Amino acid sequence: MNKDIEKVLITEEAIGRRLDEVAQRIIADFSNQDSLQVVAILKGSVFFMADLLRRIPFKIEIECLNVSSYHGGTTSSGQVDFLDQKLPDVHRRCVLVVDDILDTGQTLGEVKAKLTRLGASEVKTCVLISKKKERVCDLKADYAAFEIDDEFVVGYGLDYRGQYRNLPYVGVLKSSLVS
Ligand code: PRP
Repeated sequence: MNKDIEKVLITEEAIGRRLDEVAQRIIADFSNQDSLQVVAILKGSVFFMADLLRRIPFKIEIECLNVSSYHGGTTSSGQVDFLDQKLPDVHRRCVLVVDDILDTGQTLGEVKAKLTRLGASEVKTCVLISKKKERVCDLKADYAAFEIDDEFVVGYGLDYRGQYRNLPYVGVLKSSLVS
């Protein structure tokens, strides 16, 4: 798998350091809450969510939403499919939505709108990576561990055709492997 990577963009060590910092900000911002409802967007967020939430000593409830927009390729399809509709009872609750990457903003935008419609008192968004680009949906993540240029990356949850999610770092695939 490592031999398929052109360059490592974000090392495992850098991820660990930034997660410490992001967790501290979340702890400070939610310190007046009894508990925290987290909504994680599958599948890309699983590694980020697991590592981030273990740094936050709150009573956390986790719900996972199966939402897909890339459909395995390198660009967002522009269509956000809610593959299942299992949503937690968020009425009057603060919700932290966790995702791996903010690209066009459509996924987080639609999830945030849905949770707001369901009566959440506050919806904050947290991503591992925010791409520096214009968004289709006008949305800025409340917490973004890293900002990168608009290039296709894999690893630490991010996939190409379903693979490479388990790389411990974020990197760029060799162009010969991407079609
Ligand atoms: C990716 C990624 C985000 C979304 C970001 O999901 O995990 O959820 O796209 O793109 P956007 O800002 O343009 O909406 P994908 O559809 O690839 O599903 P996956 O996480 O299961 O790979």
